[in-house]
Amino acid sequence: PDLFAPERRNSAGTDLTDPPTRAAFEAARAPFRETTWEARPTRRNGSGNGPAQPVSNPFAPAERVGQVHPATPSEVAAALNAARPWTASAAERAAVLVEASELYEAEQGELCALLTREAGKTPADAIADLREAVDFLRYYAARAGDLSAPARGLFACISPWNFPLAIFTGQIAAALAAGNGVLAKPAEATPLIAARATALLHRAGVPAHALALLPGEGPEVGAALVADPRIGGVAFTGSTATAHRIHRTMAEHLAPDAPLIAETGGLNAMIVDSTALPEQAIGDIIVSAFQSAGQRCSALRMLYLQADIAEPFLDMLYGAMDQLALGDPWDVATDIGPVIDARARVDIEAHVERARAEGRLLKQLPTPRGDGHFVGPAVIRLEGIEELEREVFGPVLHVATFQASRIDRVVDAINAQGYGLTFGVHSRIDDRVERITARVRAGNLYVNRNQIGAIVGSQPFGGQGLSGTGPKAGGPDYLARFTQPARETRPE
Ligand code: NAD
Ligand code: ALA
Repeated sequence: PDLFAPERRNSAGTDLTDPPTRAAFEAARAPFRETTWEARPTRRNGSGNGPAQPVSNPFAPAERVGQVHPATPSEVAAALNAARPWTASAAERAAVLVEASELYEAEQGELCALLTREAGKTPADAIADLREAVDFLRYYAARAGDLSAPARGLFACISPWNFPLAIFTGQIAAALAAGNGVLAKPAEATPLIAARATALLHRAGVPAHALALLPGEGPEVGAALVADPRIGGVAFTGSTATAHRIHRTMAEHLAPDAPLIAETGGLNAMIVDSTALPEQAIGDIIVSAFQSAGQRCSALRMLYLQADIAEPFLDMLYGAMDQLALGDPWDVATDIGPVIDARARVDIEAHVERARAEGRLLKQLPTPRGDGHFVGPAVIRLEGIEELEREVFGPVLHVATFQASRIDRVVDAINAQGYGLTFGVHSRIDDRVERITARVRAGNLYVNRNQIGAIVGSQPFGGQGLSGTGPKAGGPDYLARFTQPARETRPE
């Protein structure tokens, strides 16, 4: 088959509303209900083994999902010494990545069990995470043949916990498709899924020298990688603050042309005017703000409602929130699971409690019983986005109202925050939609729909300003950044 053929298809996914499909999904996952996993650096250095640390389930923190051996400084050094670019032809690399995508799909039961038990993902979110990982593998494989420039050499790939399979895999797949060797540093909270994914990539045929896993703390393992002059580029997804830190370290230690591809946070807004269809807008707001417990970089944080409709609209929104099922993310009926850990819960709760004390908390769902790290989805009233000082990474929606005559000012206030990741608008006035979307600065714009869940290859994803450097992941320009830039040639 022609590996670079345009008929590449995204993963079909799994429709949990279809009873036989759902039964098959549950049967494939069931054997992994009590499994424990282990993550360790792929290249162990006999004497330097760090002590193992437990990894727990965010829904049931006493449950041990496995253990991680963080990479020691000597293991990081050994991995850097052993790492080499992947010199196989583009077609061979693509074939291996496609093989990996098939292994991922074949292991759906185990991978989804891990995504739920290590990262608190509901079945729908786990399936979406796996689908996106598979799509990245196939998309970058299909694009590898477009590249004419050589690889950069070695890439450090540093990923977050909120898409512990999709983003971990996407960064690595892009770097490998372009022929680089990869040193992958997964998030502290999700090393087990990263270890399983790395094993599948190796089983598919990625050579050991081209992919090393280095679990551990960001300020130790991650910081050591981005300060090593052998690193030719860094792919990072995570918070804006960490991206700034990495950028500074790279500027001091790496070659001046080593790229930082950073995908970071957002203060994502949606404008809903009085012509919007309320039922549709409310469904899209619920999904955008609360799905994945709001732990998406793309999630809606700031809703602007036209003042004329605000009161009845918010009543409908609260009614829709009351229908949400919070609970055990293993259960297919659960809409919203826990946040990732106790630190996240405490941080989000402090934000909500401050609003409560100031009389600005409009609504909060009760948290389920038990010791899972739950935060009840909440709605907080603000005067405007300028009062939102930072990204609150959880199920918290902020709401302000606007007069139709001041819509440009609303957009200017959104832009003035300096982020620019996702933006949504619900309106049935075409001219207004055009005016707003032309004025707003955001990477991904969504009209009359929800604003999460960008699809690889169809909706390249990435922000501007404080939200990221680009190029967009899952888009045609991404891979080229993992290769050397074309050198200027002088005429003889
Ligand atoms: P984080 O910035 O805390 O950590 C991300 C990664 O960076 C982790 O692997 C961490 O260990 C590592 N790290 C931390 N300090 C480091 C250092 N000094 N040097 C090198 N590496 C270091 O982010 P997080 O909490 O894991 O993820 C949530 C954040 O990610 C949110 O801000 C979210 O908006 C953002 N995010 C962005 C996108 C996107 O595509 N734009 C996607 C998902 C998540
Ligand atoms: N790409 C993910 C989304 O669009 C983060 O929700």
